[in-house]
Amino acid sequence: MVDLRVQIGSLTLANPIMPGSGTFGEQLANVIDLNRLGAIVTKTITADLREGNPPPRVAEFKDAVLWSIGIPSKGPVHYVDTLVPFYRKFSPPLVASISADTVEQFGQLAARISVPGVAAIEANVSCPNLKKDGNAFGMDTEATEQVVRAMKGATKVPVWAKLTPNVGDIAALARAAERGGADALVVANAILAMAIDVETRRPRLGRVMGGLTGPAVKPVILRMVYQCAQAVRIPIIGCGGVATAADAVEYLLAGASAVQVGTASFVSATTMLRIIEGLVTYCETHAVTKIRDLSGAMIGPTDVRLEDALTV
Ligand SMILES: Cc1cc2nc3c(=O)[nH]c(=O)nc-3n(C[C@H](O)[C@H](O)[C@H](O)COP(=O)(O)O)c2cc1C
Repeated sequence: MVDLRVQIGSLTLANPIMPGSGTFGEQLANVIDLNRLGAIVTKTITADLREGNPPPRVAEFKDAVLWSIGIPSKGPVHYVDTLVPFYRKFSPPLVASISADTVEQFGQLAARISVPGVAAIEANVSCPNLKKDGNAFGMDTEATEQVVRAMKGATKVPVWAKLTPNVGDIAALARAAERGGADALVVANAILAMAIDVETRRPRLGRVMGGLTGPAVKPVILRMVYQCAQAVRIPIIGCGGVATAADAVEYLLAGASAVQVGTASFVSATTMLRIIEGLVTYCETHAVTKIRDLSGAMIGPTDVRLEDALTV
């Protein structure tokens, strides 16, 4: 028997696999048994009602997808009155993802949705800080720390900080979130990218730039998870391009305690279940009795320096 349980701060998850925010909806309960997931993470909600971005919203490539969905949000009332009661029927901890325009609003929204049934709140700091320069909160160490601190002051529920990869020094952002009191990090959101249709000369997304996800981003985000794991003591949840059990194991070896699956669930709704089964097979084949023992268990040099790696 393989022990798949992992610990994310005070939360024990039955296994390390959960959906990435926004890539999962209630309808999936008709297709897969949600009780088999390690956790359930819901789409980011905002305090106000939002429509989302103008089309085109998606451009597909061989190994990646470029998205500009925005955050079509039904707001906290819908969340508390409809979504929480729906997901409470299932055993995995429910993680609510939130976003806001200001530090204060992050705190207020965290307090508003801290209702029984919400096991953790994930801060999506990839959204613009409207009181400052309009750059994402997550691009700024101070703003990231402030958001997490405001949320920690407003709720007793554990707070996860989902970092944006669109920064130069991801480890500095990880340390900032940890200073703010984050209970865990999710590394990371989508990579800022764009594409142009050369026949029409028009951008392939309505908003020109959007977020790149899927298998092609995995080596980049894996490197960030590795760097963050060296920089902080709080647990890390890897997120980017996970499509197979081997991808998940790679993230664990790099230092993650769990992983989120996004784009691959659009390819097949049963991807996460297949990954969980594949993890059991991997552990059995490699004589691993507790999956948590894989976290940070990469075998290799311990004196890795960024400056040595910068030259290709
Ligand atoms: C359609 C779609 C919607 C998303 N919506 C959100 C969201 O609301 N909040 C969020 O934090 N991340 C959102 N993401 C990002 C994913 O949670 C995840 O970070 C990203 O897709 C990378 O993982 P992947 O390569 O496995 O897809 C979204 C991604 C996709 C593809």
